[in-house]
Amino acid sequence: DQETEFLVVANRLPVHLEAHGTAEPRWQRSPGGLVSALEPILRARRGAWVGWAGTTGDTPVAFHDPDLRLHPVPLNESEYRDYYEGFSNATLWPLFHDAVAPPEFKQAWWQSYRQVNQRFAEHTAAVAAPGATVWIQDYQLMLVPALLRERRPDVRIGFFLHIPFPPPELFLQLPWRTEVVDGLLGADLVGFQLPGGARNFLQLVRRLHRGESVAGGQPTPVLGTVRLPGRTVRAGAFPISIDTAGLEALAHSEAVRERAQRIRHRLGGSRKIMLGVDRLDYTKGIDQRLRAFEGLLAKNRITAQDTVLVQIATPSRERVEHYRRQRARVEAQVGRINGTFGQVGRVPVHYLHTTVDRTELAALYQAADVMLVTPLRDGMNLVAKEFVAARPDLGGALVLSEFAGAAHELPQALLVNPHHLSELEDTMAAALDLEERERRHRMRELRRHVRERDVHHWARSFLSALSEGGHGAVPGE
Ligand code: G6P
Repeated sequence: DQETEFLVVANRLPVHLEAHGTAEPRWQRSPGGLVSALEPILRARRGAWVGWAGTTGDTPVAFHDPDLRLHPVPLNESEYRDYYEGFSNATLWPLFHDAVAPPEFKQAWWQSYRQVNQRFAEHTAAVAAPGATVWIQDYQLMLVPALLRERRPDVRIGFFLHIPFPPPELFLQLPWRTEVVDGLLGADLVGFQLPGGARNFLQLVRRLHRGESVAGGQPTPVLGTVRLPGRTVRAGAFPISIDTAGLEALAHSEAVRERAQRIRHRLGGSRKIMLGVDRLDYTKGIDQRLRAFEGLLAKNRITAQDTVLVQIATPSRERVEHYRRQRARVEAQVGRINGTFGQVGRVPVHYLHTTVDRTELAALYQAADVMLVTPLRDGMNLVAKEFVAARPDLGGALVLSEFAGAAHELPQALLVNPHHLSELEDTMAAALDLEERERRHRMRELRRHVRERDVHHWARSFLSALSEGGHGAVPGE
């Protein structure tokens, strides 16, 4: 294998193998914001990606892509269960999302997490060129920075957390809190979505007495430094974004415009369309959204004749108990709403438990009158930014939860507290009735922001902060 100057290390590769009955498994694009953000970055820099191929079977079938070198890291069935479903998604995910669902703490899961993080560090150490820049991603790999540094002190190590970093009171519940913090401190730069996350981290480092000193209060993006024997670690805020130009080009395409027309027509022409697009995750507030929609129908503020809700729910982590329960809850709600307020040939909720491709997604964004992004807690939420980028017509209103990282950057959206049911109902109704001038004005401002702050800006600002005051190669585009 060729050695690489610039590496991204993430739990998942940007594509994964999906089984299709008895036929050969096929490569599919992986779900979630992390992949959609990093793929264009890596392609532009011709780097390599170290990650899991999404299967617990044998050696993955080769994947050929001229701009993207993929290094698959294998996981077996018990690691999938304990490291991925267990520690990553039933311990860390709920703990870091304000314990919206109660986190579970199990020693066997932790052991597996450590073991898999070791393997990621080994694979990375084997393919990084001398002095390479290695950018490790997200909560599944928080031990990799320190494990990699032990093996390869010559490389420059960045870490970025895509999900929220919780306040110390929550984080300190974690029985392995010190090990995790020490893992992160293996990096030269630890990046968070919001300044609050970086501050939570610095406070925690202080509380756990890691490092010789911790300095905070520095200007953004780097907000503080931890001094360790012989080196320093910096922590900062780098809000992630989208490939705005790419999505805009897609939004202008004939295929998308036609498909958007067809969707509108199929849904009844004059009916207003509300849209939700989420991984089927209990942090996304899909049930709160459905309850508010039901409330509007029940109070006759909208009817099935004049309004329809399209909810795309991408399958996610399907064997994890809280996800199974969430799916059952959402599907029961959809059934109840359609059963109560629907007629033959006219249901108020169109619920699709499926992944949609980029073209279909852009067409849905364009067909919508109101986009509903109402998570209870979310690191950033790129759907909100994608919706804005897909609306060069300045149409559509965005309802956005205060608890999504994106709310900090997009104050011109209609911001809402999704825990407050009547407020959510009122905001959804207001979005439907938003006067055209105001709607266009808000959209213009939102669009200005996502154009200036796209994913390339994000990567540049992280990587240039990483290159300051250190050694190792800095990848150019
Ligand atoms: C979120 C996480 C990512 C993750 C994605 C999809 O965006 O921050 O790290 O890859 O969800 O989840 P999955 O468990 O399918 O990888």
